[in-house]
Amino acid sequence: MSNKLVAGNWKLNGSLAENKVLLDGLQSPDGVEVAVCVPYPYLAQAGLLLKGIALGAQDVSEYDRGAYTGEVSASMLAEFGCHYVIVGHSERRALFAESDAAIGRKAAAALSGRLVPIVCIGETLDEREAGQVMAVVGRQLAAVLDVLGVEAMGQVVLAYEPVWAIGTGRSASADQVAEVHGLIRAWLRDQGVAADGVRILYGGSVKPGNAAELFALADVDGGLIGGASLVAEDFMSICRAAV
Ligand code: G3H
Repeated sequence: MSNKLVAGNWKLNGSLAENKVLLDGLQSPDGVEVAVCVPYPYLAQAGLLLKGIALGAQDVSEYDRGAYTGEVSASMLAEFGCHYVIVGHSERRALFAESDAAIGRKAAAALSGRLVPIVCIGETLDEREAGQVMAVVGRQLAAVLDVLGVEAMGQVVLAYEPVWAIGTGRSASADQVAEVHGLIRAWLRDQGVAADGVRILYGGSVKPGNAAELFALADVDGGLIGGASLVAEDFMSICRAAV
């Protein structure tokens, strides 16, 4: 497996002035790959200011061109220097009614545009308490696999983000993360995907204080960081924990 990947997801945050302070404070430590996924209007600014850090977006259209008002295509993101794009974040699923199937089509559009999709999967608290973690995660993965096929599925990055851990300050425990990441890798292997080459990130209240423990787990290949990616010192501390 290559170096771990730590990706920041700024969500709906930032301004030109705030971004400059944040971006000027980022440097990629040796031995870890760092990315930041910024709002669309700030791609150009981030592309100019980032050094040795990959650029990403937070969503992509399943369409490449045409009468789709408000949409942004993978080829447009690539023109702005994006390497990664987050697809199927739970906030998109829950607040913007993105279906499993649409997320599969977005992942395919990203790959067609030569972007690497970071496909988010994860259960709600109700689903966890009902013992449905792998039923939910397996359904979400299967929808992407259906569209991509086995070979392309090996090219995506996955981010396991239990919905109940996002923005709550309550990370999943190391045991919970280790269990689900192991099950995800086994699921991929069972489907014939080259599972050992798929990076599986963890996301959900990763902070400087818990990053090292989570990143040390066998099937954790990095993190997708929300709130803590908005503070350069915290984000850099999390990145160093992945070395
Ligand atoms: O994409 C990032 C995740 O939603 C995690 O967000 O680190 O603020 O919990 P968080």
